[in-house]
Amino acid sequence: MGKDVIVACDFASKKDVFDFLDRFSGRKPFVKIGMELFYAEGPEIVKEIKKRGHKIFLDLKLHDIPNTVMKAMRVLSCLDVDMCNLHASGTRTMMEAAIKGLTREDGTRPILIAVTQLTSTDQESMERDLLINEPIDKVVMHYAATAKAAGLDGVVCSPLEAEKVHTVCGKDFLTVTPGVRFADGDIGDQKRVMTPAEAKKIGSDYIVVGRPITAAPDPVAAYERCVKEFVD
Ligand code: C5P
Repeated sequence: MGKDVIVACDFASKKDVFDFLDRFSGRKPFVKIGMELFYAEGPEIVKEIKKRGHKIFLDLKLHDIPNTVMKAMRVLSCLDVDMCNLHASGTRTMMEAAIKGLTREDGTRPILIAVTQLTSTDQESMERDLLINEPIDKVVMHYAATAKAAGLDGVVCSPLEAEKVHTVCGKDFLTVTPGVRFADGDIGDQKRVMTPAEAKKIGSDYIVVGRPITAAPDPVAAYERCVKEFVD
């Protein structure tokens, strides 16, 4: 599975996302569709973007009882997304059920990755609200190892964790990393960031890039800069 730049299409409507994607006449970016757009526009938005030739990471972060996740994943698999995700905290049984639901009759399935601890969760809130008292770094690596044991393909993690995930879970276990900024760019609300070139160096498999591309004066040039730094 090759390295790629995934563009986070965090737009509120179909019109906004198509106005953005219409700019790309050459290489068609791998796009991430999140909850906001999916809930606003429904599964049709996935089909339409797919039809335009883009790969799709559907970022819905499933977390429910195994049977429900299995059936929901079956639907996502039929939508022909290329990558989707769930919360590792749903347990190994839930993750195994997800794989079962995603796997098509011919044995193929979209890439499935796990969210470990959200980057919005810190040590303090994890201890206070979740009653998990281990160091957060150990929790993240444990969740990654459990995801691997369940048969998942990788995890979403910060670029700073990618190297350790590869050490713990092997280099073929995918790391999909947001929090990417150009060296001369605005970091916005992200706290721990890396440039595309640094993310490449530490072994990220996919970078997820939103505003440095979507809010750039020339989004196509910004996307191509990312590809040049990260992939080429
Ligand atoms: O605009 P920006 O590059 O910060 O967008 C990053 C994308 O990655 C957003 O869609 C955000 O929700 C997502 N993300 C993140 N941090 C995580 C998980 C997902 O920034 N830990």
